[in-house]
Amino acid sequence: MKALILAGGAGTRLRPITHTSAKQLVPVANKPILFYGIEAMVAAGITDIGVIVGETRAEVMAAVGDGSRWGARVTYIPQDQPLGLAHCVLIAADFLGDDDFVMYLGDNLLEQDLAAFVKAFEEARRSSEPPAAQILLKQVPDPHRFGIAELDGAGNVVRLVEKPADPPTDLALVGVYLFDRTINEAVRAIEPSGRGELEITDAIQWLVDEGHRVRCELLSGWWIDTGKLTPLLEANRLLLEVIESRIDGDVDDASTVDGRVVVEAGAVVRNSTLRGPLVIGAGARITDSFIGPFSAIGDGCEVVHSEIEHSVIMERSRIIEIPRLEDSLIGREAEITRTGRRPRALRLMIGDHCQIDTE
Ligand code: DAU
Repeated sequence: MKALILAGGAGTRLRPITHTSAKQLVPVANKPILFYGIEAMVAAGITDIGVIVGETRAEVMAAVGDGSRWGARVTYIPQDQPLGLAHCVLIAADFLGDDDFVMYLGDNLLEQDLAAFVKAFEEARRSSEPPAAQILLKQVPDPHRFGIAELDGAGNVVRLVEKPADPPTDLALVGVYLFDRTINEAVRAIEPSGRGELEITDAIQWLVDEGHRVRCELLSGWWIDTGKLTPLLEANRLLLEVIESRIDGDVDDASTVDGRVVVEAGAVVRNSTLRGPLVIGAGARITDSFIGPFSAIGDGCEVVHSEIEHSVIMERSRIIEIPRLEDSLIGREAEITRTGRRPRALRLMIGDHCQIDTE
């Protein structure tokens, strides 16, 4: 079994962050989203991993490397334009060969580990009626934003539609799919959709229409497609809720620490309150500040005389004299300062290297 992780595409919905960097590398709980996917594959016993990369390939390749840190072997497959999820399968043909594989969308985060999902497919593949694909479904309140599945009375997949205006059900396709080699034929047979992409949803529909069995499972835990700010902060919240406290940095006696708190090695906390769940990255400096629940402060950040809550602050940013920063996503090496005195809360989504003076 191989894995194909999709880390190309254009992250228009997380702009300005993704003007300059890959949306799959935005950190949640101080770890790039993409790393959770790689770890899920390795935990399911899959170490031969192809990664589709697009215009942000240099950054993705620098962050992931050859995969050896996870005990995996990573093969990069460049995609010149984001022509669709099925296009990714098409260009990965040499890497995939005739093997079964998991396709994993690099911006998806799941609570459930995938080992049982993979095992169920492997077992079904040995049965008298082996499925050509297995999909994972989750009931959602906003089905028009996803690929949607319709099942028959026996729970078999009969129809799939991509982002329908009038959704027939609320069962969304989660971004984890299992395929056998038949999908290679399917992606060659379909035509681009109305939005000009080769849709994996249409390729799976082709399998159904050609009489192949498509198994489905309902996902029990949470699932987040992190493509936008609100779900990204939600994923950060859910992951911080289960971190294990660990203080490896230097927290002075004038500071207080409550709840689940991680302070990484080399971080320095002075005269501040840390109210978890939260994480302070390696080498960060927190001085005379309050860091509240669901905050992830990246490596090398500096926070001085400020209050931060429910926010992701990416590496090496500086937050100076900000009375309150909440529900925010701050890019790398950004600087937010205040020269005036008027206290107010800020909610920001700002890109890498930005400088903001609030008064
Ligand atoms: O998140 C689940 C949904 O993902 C499914 O319900 C939909 O059926 C499926 O089409 C997909 O929809 P999205 O609109 O969310 O896909 P997105 O364009 O965000 O791409 C998903 C990932 O794949 C993302 O990490 C970027 C990458 N990608 C995307 C395209 C279109 C590529 O690497 N190459 C591409 O050509």
